[in-house]
Amino acid sequence: LQKAALEEIASAADQAALQALRVKLLGKKGVLTAQLKGLGALSAEARKTRGAAVNETKRALEAAFAARREALEREALARQLLSERLDVTLPGVAFPVGGLHLLTRLTHRLLDVFRSLGYDVAVGPELETDDYNFRMLNFPDEHPARDTQDTFWTEDGRLLRTHTSPVQVRYMLAHRPPFKVVAPGRVFRNEAVDVTHEAMFHQLEALVVGERVTMADMHGAILSMARALFGPETKTRLQPTFFPFVEPGAEFAVWWTNPRTGRGEWLELGGCGMVHPNVFKAVGYENVTGFAFGFGLERLAMVSYGVPDVRYFFNGDLRVLRQFRGPL
Ligand code: PHE
Repeated sequence: LQKAALEEIASAADQAALQALRVKLLGKKGVLTAQLKGLGALSAEARKTRGAAVNETKRALEAAFAARREALEREALARQLLSERLDVTLPGVAFPVGGLHLLTRLTHRLLDVFRSLGYDVAVGPELETDDYNFRMLNFPDEHPARDTQDTFWTEDGRLLRTHTSPVQVRYMLAHRPPFKVVAPGRVFRNEAVDVTHEAMFHQLEALVVGERVTMADMHGAILSMARALFGPETKTRLQPTFFPFVEPGAEFAVWWTNPRTGRGEWLELGGCGMVHPNVFKAVGYENVTGFAFGFGLERLAMVSYGVPDVRYFFNGDLRVLRQFRGPL
């Protein structure tokens, strides 16, 4: 019995087979139990030797069961380790990290420049009234100057602001001079879209008002901005032009070195001028002078970052956007 039983135990395929075997051999109705029960029928002498032998067998079987159980557990663990193996040296899955849009970067860069020059930063609504966008900026009703800014009107007579200049009006109504302020934001014009024109674009507007603010101050402010953007050698140029809300008015250009050609060239950036007396009258200001200038960010971003088509800014093409993830 013992030899056969030991072989059976040693080759039990799994824990369940081992348990079944234990019941068969050592259980209440098992082979060995029956043998122990049978001892009573023997003589005292025979019972002693036979009993010792049965107990010996029982110990041997117990030991064999324990050994097999341990072996099966080891095998199971080995199998589990193999199947659940994890290669911790594999590179991880990187989460996609977003970045700031390049116009946002340019805005931050410009605001940093103006903050370092002592300017406050203000914003205004994109849905504006005719008063703030036109009338208080000295565009009379029906005046042809309105035609220079093709406007999106809403059914209730409001409009999508065509420039950031209405923020000048709002700021002047809410503050007392002297002050320096810049206002960045989106503006809208009903325009045919092409390489350099979008119906929505961005402007940055500067307004400085005080007792003796002059055109020389204006030129200095524009020059400081241009040098912060394009380096200390940068020059600026003013050429007379007309905007209803300034007198005199000018357009300003910046001399910069085009990295593609290595040559210097004029970059016409925006409009500027001394705040028109009618604008001060509209907001109730007396005995002050001031200047304002404003320009589009897209053009500046196109030349600074080498973007060939304004539509790239807004069509969400990741191949373009991904190129502007690094530092400013
Ligand atoms: N608001 C003008 C435009 O959008 C630009 C400008 C701003 C001109 C400030 C003069 C002074 O065309």
